[in-house]
Amino acid sequence: MLSSASTNREKLQKFYNENIDSLSELYPGITFERLIQEFESSWSKGPVERREILKDCYLEGASHPLNTFFSYLKKGIPLEYISGQSYFYKSEFRVTPDVLIPRSETEILVEIAVNYLKSKSKEQDTFSIADIGTGSGNILLSILQEVDCPCFAVGLDISPLALAVAKKNHFNLKYRMSPKHHVEWIISDRMGSLYTEDHRLFDLIVSNPPYIKEKYDRKLVHHKVDQLEPHSALYLKDEEYDQWFALFFQQVENKLRPGGMFIMEGHEHHLESLRDLAQSYGLDSENTEIINDYTGRPRFFTWKRKNG
Ligand SMILES: C[S@@+](CC[C@H](N)C(=O)[O-])C[C@H]1O[C@@H](n2cnc3c(N)ncnc32)[C@H](O)[C@@H]1O
Repeated sequence: MLSSASTNREKLQKFYNENIDSLSELYPGITFERLIQEFESSWSKGPVERREILKDCYLEGASHPLNTFFSYLKKGIPLEYISGQSYFYKSEFRVTPDVLIPRSETEILVEIAVNYLKSKSKEQDTFSIADIGTGSGNILLSILQEVDCPCFAVGLDISPLALAVAKKNHFNLKYRMSPKHHVEWIISDRMGSLYTEDHRLFDLIVSNPPYIKEKYDRKLVHHKVDQLEPHSALYLKDEEYDQWFALFFQQVENKLRPGGMFIMEGHEHHLESLRDLAQSYGLDSENTEIINDYTGRPRFFTWKRKNG
């Protein structure tokens, strides 16, 4: 066992030394120790689970786990898709090529949401929360871990494959959240399904929707992201962009309870015009705000609905 681990280490070291230039380009900041860690966490899972995580990226017939690992690395497959896990906010999330890999800047959205719920918990002892475009469930499950009082929560996504990943994460992280929370995962185009299934209003609506214009913004997207992450999570058609958000804002306006809060991540180039659009759908300007990320780019749009 020991000798096999040390042989793997030697082979990985040799691969790393021989491919350092291309690896640094595909995986900026990659170190040998990180590669070792990723290999160990990928191959501690059984072959069936690995196949389930990587789906069609899985290379049938590759003889040795290390050779398979090297093939993935040469293709530039994100380390998170290879190991099937990604760290976000305070937890490890399962990810597959069916979901966007959670980005660290989205943690700002979680922080805004958690601060809001903590301030509201002085006057309220239950909350209802909706997350639109939930993907791996990273936003909703991170928020729920921080709230002790009972929450009714829905994670909505148009992709049933993404929802399967979110459900798995919910199962894995259940022990870290209040047993009083009730969570549902619903297939839905934006909040559309809630109109037929549920007349509930929400205290908090969060969303990191697809917000890249398919043609106009594409040149700014890293080619590996464009090639390997789900397009339905990234892009909207340029000509449908405003219409897509117009319906979304109408639904938010309809479903947010007085005193509630809406928080959305968006594209730095489009967020201000989306705020104008939102205002024309009743999200009143006095209570909207645009918040920057840590690099100073405008990335989050919030709306607090007046009480009563
Ligand atoms: C940018 S990803 C965000 C994923 C995750 N919430 C995160 O922050 O990492 C956008 C998500 O929205 C989903 N989506 C795309 N179009 C949608 C629609 N019309 N209605 C609901 N969800 C949609 C995608 O499947 C994807 O999971």
